[in-house]
Amino acid sequence: MDSKVVVVTGGASGIGRATVLRFSEEGYAPVILDRDAEAGAETLSLLGSEPVEGQFIRADLTRKAEVTAAFDSILSARGRIDVLVNLAGGTFHKGAIHEVTPAQWKECLDLNLKTTFLCAQAVIAPMKQAGRGTIVNTASNFGITGGAERTHYAASKAAIIAFSKSLATELAPHGIRVNTIAPGLTGTERVRGKYDADEWAALSGTLPMGRAAMPEEIADGIFFLAGDESDYVTGATLHVNGGMVMP
Ligand SMILES: NC(=O)c1ccc[n+]([C@@H]2O[C@H](COP(=O)([O-])OP(=O)(O)OC[C@H]3O[C@@H](n4cnc5c(N)ncnc54)[C@H](O)[C@@H]3O)[C@@H](O)[C@H]2O)c1
Repeated sequence: MDSKVVVVTGGASGIGRATVLRFSEEGYAPVILDRDAEAGAETLSLLGSEPVEGQFIRADLTRKAEVTAAFDSILSARGRIDVLVNLAGGTFHKGAIHEVTPAQWKECLDLNLKTTFLCAQAVIAPMKQAGRGTIVNTASNFGITGGAERTHYAASKAAIIAFSKSLATELAPHGIRVNTIAPGLTGTERVRGKYDADEWAALSGTLPMGRAAMPEEIADGIFFLAGDESDYVTGATLHVNGGMVMP
């Protein structure tokens, strides 16, 4: 019960899973919020004999009622939330602007931006009460540069940066820090699945470092932003992208 508690949205797979494992190794009690129960169980099984027990809660984080229920249950069981990492997100579809339907637009903004807003809102009261806490939100290289046929995704990720800066300003007097991680191309199963081996090698080869990130390398950046080593950092965006974008 004395362990610090980290809540990782989208923690069942990809960068989220690597983040859960990283915090667990550092002695945090990780709580995974994700809509994929099977992947969530798999991630929990990877925690193995780590000293602090992890927990999985199934929730569709685009729904406020499910977000509220999940955070209420975490707070009643654990009594604290030290870190929130908002990683649930991604793109389901690419398409030229005239092909993007309002439903697709909404789905993308809900998944990336609304989940970030709802989950951040849910931890403000307990963090204010504790007088400390950190929130890490997730943007993307596309939130900086934009990207053809990714208008909805890029818009949602750019908005997350502005949201984080606004929240950082609002919450700094309460001892709560808010930062953004902006990953570049990262070899998660979801992203790898969009390319065959040759396409992936070619795409990775276009990056200055000649390869995509491993999910663990993004988790390292998230851990830095969440932990005491970045105590004087708030409202910042950390670009972990092997030189893909240098804003
Ligand atoms: N992988 C990359 O190349 C890359 C690059 C830049 C940014 N990002 C961002 O990093 C984050 C993680 O990406 P990833 O590649 O690890 O993705 P991923 O698909 O491996 O993981 C995302 C997780 O979010 C969960 N999720 C999706 N919708 C949800 C919802 N409505 N409610 C609850 N859970 C939900 C999924 O079940 C999944 O476990 C995303 O925000 C993505 O936009 C990824």
